[in-house]
Amino acid sequence: MRIVITGASSGLGKGLALHYANPQNKLILIARREERLYEVAESCRSKGAEVETIIADISDFARMREVGRELTREPIDRIIFNAGISVGHGGGVTPFEDFERLFKTNFLSVHALLEPIIPKLMEQKSGEVVFISSLASLLTMPTSIAYSSSKRALNAYAEGLHYQLKPYGIDVMTIMPGFIDSEMTRKNRFKMPFFMPTEKGIARITEAIGRKKVRYAFPFRFYLMIRIVLLFPQSLRDKIVNFTNFKKGNKPEI
Ligand SMILES: NC(=O)c1ccc[n+]([C@@H]2O[C@H](COP(=O)([O-])OP(=O)(O)OC[C@H]3O[C@@H](n4cnc5c(N)ncnc54)[C@H](OP(=O)(O)O)[C@@H]3O)[C@@H](O)[C@H]2O)c1
Repeated sequence: MRIVITGASSGLGKGLALHYANPQNKLILIARREERLYEVAESCRSKGAEVETIIADISDFARMREVGRELTREPIDRIIFNAGISVGHGGGVTPFEDFERLFKTNFLSVHALLEPIIPKLMEQKSGEVVFISSLASLLTMPTSIAYSSSKRALNAYAEGLHYQLKPYGIDVMTIMPGFIDSEMTRKNRFKMPFFMPTEKGIARITEAIGRKKVRYAFPFRFYLMIRIVLLFPQSLRDKIVNFTNFKKGNKPEI
């Protein structure tokens, strides 16, 4: 299989690259940090995979469109949009610059890379497109407005793309993980419910991809809690959100 993974230099992207590294697969790994990506590539090669690395900033849209066009020279079996960033959970109003950075990286970069690839997938009449969203896309806390908004936009995009590409035999999947050990979560200074080791998170994600789940949210108990809260009347939701946010020691942002 020819598999493209964005954000493969650390965390979930690195875990996914290592999981799919075997002699049957050709991996194309994308990230900015050259040394880190080369290390991951070497580890994948030692497991028998053919590996190509692309050092690029996914928020450079012109470059992403160029990379997308280059990738269409050969069939694409699976493309995993994993690269993403979060911003600190401090108090105060979210700076516009953070919103811009998050939307460019977590959302707009996706279509910049995918736009030239979609016609190729349609022509192939096969392929998988996987988006790593987040449980944070389902319920927006006052301290993660920009991150949740970018991930919810990603869900909406993925939903439409699923309907658009299903008739062509292409599987579009949206994975919504809770808290998993990575460089991103190691920066968090609050208690993370149902926190999961990286290997366990990768096992859950790759199993969902293997089963071609259109939408997959985990851990189940955390997902269920969020779904139940969303069924409550707004006044009760307000109390719960304020209580959990207070427990985290955060001040509301807006
Ligand atoms: N860990 C969790 O608990 C969790 C939960 C839900 C969702 N997620 C999502 O999972 C994805 C992976 O996050 P992670 O937890 O594995 O964090 P991570 O260890 O910080 O990894 C993020 C990856 O994205 C890449 N990246 C970030 N900005 C980029 C840019 N402008 N251009 C190219 N690559 C870029 C990074 O590579 P370079 O810095 O080398 O460019 C890195 O490889 C993200 O989309 C995140 O939102 C994570």
